[in-house]
Amino acid sequence: MEKIDNKVCNIIIDNSYKNFEENLKKQGNYDLVLIISDSNVYNSQGHEFIKHINARIVYEYIVSPGEDSKSLDTYEKIIEYCVRINLSRKSVIIALGGGVVGDLAGYVASTYMRGIDVIQVPTSLLAQVDSSIGGKTGINIGNFKNIVGTFYQPKFTYINVDSLKTLSEDEFLSGMSEVIKYSIIYDYEFIDYLIGNSESIINRESDKLYYIVKKCASIKAKVVEADEKEGGFRKILNFGHTFGHGVEKLCHISHGEAVSIGMNMAFKMALREGFIKEEYCNKFLEVCEKYSLPMNFENADEEEVLNIMKSDKKNSFSKINLVLPVGLGEVEVINTISEEKILGIIKESKNA
Ligand SMILES: NC(=O)c1ccc[n+]([C@@H]2O[C@H](COP(=O)([O-])OP(=O)(O)OC[C@H]3O[C@@H](n4cnc5c(N)ncnc54)[C@H](O)[C@@H]3O)[C@@H](O)[C@H]2O)c1
Repeated sequence: MEKIDNKVCNIIIDNSYKNFEENLKKQGNYDLVLIISDSNVYNSQGHEFIKHINARIVYEYIVSPGEDSKSLDTYEKIIEYCVRINLSRKSVIIALGGGVVGDLAGYVASTYMRGIDVIQVPTSLLAQVDSSIGGKTGINIGNFKNIVGTFYQPKFTYINVDSLKTLSEDEFLSGMSEVIKYSIIYDYEFIDYLIGNSESIINRESDKLYYIVKKCASIKAKVVEADEKEGGFRKILNFGHTFGHGVEKLCHISHGEAVSIGMNMAFKMALREGFIKEEYCNKFLEVCEKYSLPMNFENADEEEVLNIMKSDKKNSFSKINLVLPVGLGEVEVINTISEEKILGIIKESKNA
């Protein structure tokens, strides 16, 4: 077990749930524990996890797997359940699951009785390296993703890297795009590690999982500490997401696939603008190929992709904020690129 601690984040990395109780106890005495999870995660991880919570009254609320659960309707049902079981300000919510459960449970905890404690126990690769760290919570309203939410830090994030072994192959590989993202935004040498160790990472060897998750969680924690409320620096985490946003919505692909397509568009743009050299693009393509990540999209209209990018809530003063590579392991937020140029890159990235 190792800790990543700073002024904002408190993360524990482990390869089982064994040390969870010890860390829970350090938070004080909770009268009730409510575990929020989804049925996939609960069926594969719930039993093992609960074994490691001692002598407390434990309730569970299990939602359906998938993005649709991040809804006002599910939120309301959970709040009603919290009232029914007398969840109090002295209680704690544990989010056991991927990013959907983490965002939903975090939002419930941050608003129920004006805020009760929450602990994140992420079980997907995306959640372990990204969504469970940094305190963003939220739900979707209609088609508007994460349009309602809060910044609310968990008491701690407990990462059991071995829980990734029950994740589907597709979800695992999709999460690898977020892992690759960290090498581009912060740590260029990490890209060589991901290329050189791809086979054992794909086979989910415990020591490799531990290494990559710890590396990414540490970077995320550093970025969040420097800019908790996303005033500026934290925006680098959106690398691949601005371009990816449109294709994710229109092509019905996973978040990770959309991010890899979005990162590729950002690379093409950076090359076109002369910010980086072709060799760097090739290295990026090589690492994505190792993890079978898509580079182009299909079945969506290019203008519509652009329109969705324009409506991204992360833009300001009607300008599209692009996070582009500007050097090895270095990105910058750039908002001076014309819509025509952006549309050109989108067109180039569509499979005929
Ligand atoms: N809060 C943030 O900072 C932040 C950052 C990035 C993404 N997000 C959000 O995260 C969500 C996506 O997260 P996700 O990719 O984890 O999706 P998810 O939570 O839907 O999980 C993906 C699938 O994997 C299953 N699963 C998860 N862990 C498992 C395990 N160990 N064993 C078996 N099955 C398992 C889930 O049941 C689900 O079917 C989106 O809603 C996105 O908006 C939030």
